[in-house]
Amino acid sequence: MAAADQPKLIVAADAEALAQAAAERVTARIAANPSRIAICLTGGSSPKKLYQLLGSDSWRGRIPWDRVHWFIGDERFVPESDPLNNMAVAREIFLDRNAPAGHIHPIPTAIESPDRSAAAYAHELESFYGAEELDPARPLFDLVLMGAGPDGHTASLFPGYPEVEETRRWVVGVPKANVAPFVPRVSLTLPALASCREMLFEMAGHDKQPILTRLLNNENLPAVRARSNGETVWLVDQAALPEEIRGRR
Ligand code: 6PG
Repeated sequence: MAAADQPKLIVAADAEALAQAAAERVTARIAANPSRIAICLTGGSSPKKLYQLLGSDSWRGRIPWDRVHWFIGDERFVPESDPLNNMAVAREIFLDRNAPAGHIHPIPTAIESPDRSAAAYAHELESFYGAEELDPARPLFDLVLMGAGPDGHTASLFPGYPEVEETRRWVVGVPKANVAPFVPRVSLTLPALASCREMLFEMAGHDKQPILTRLLNNENLPAVRARSNGETVWLVDQAALPEEIRGRR
């Protein structure tokens, strides 16, 4: 991969500073679009501080809630009442208190299978977008938030799984997860996630160091292959950086 194709690496001092930097990027993307805005959220623990900030008194006034729609890049196939449900976490931390109910777009899990859920969510995304084919000149999302798991997965696209190679469908069912929690998943695919102005990864803490080292070495992993058609940013903190570059960035 040519150096020009590399994501932009931004290093924050610690997890707090990283969440602040992420909130700045979210609100900058919102400010750049005067009409309807689509943001694709992510699950896991990494975005929680960002979600807390976006719902806080000092930040929520910067978001035109009546113009922003909130989607989710992957979901654990568990009921919305289950604490593992990704969108339920985002709803509880900041969405339910701020966003109009019709602007929150969860992946349905009260449905018979992950495949059915994937088809229903693809339909919802297509209706929102107004077409069944993605036009590179008209991104589906303004911003896609992402995280990277210890095996190099992102969203629920696990290394070596066939769903990573999907080129046609926007959303897929994933019968078995590669890492905990071992529940079936539903995930947007690489082409659907790529259809955005910005893809923003958050990786903080020493636990992320081994996987960030592999990503920086350009291993063939889903988190490396996930790229925006616009800008891709890896926002990391000092603790996640490999020893040899820590303190130099
Ligand atoms: C999920 C996620 C997943 C997550 C990474 C990182 O449903 O688990 O969307 O892709 O972003 O596993 O998770 P952490 O932020 O918890 O490290």
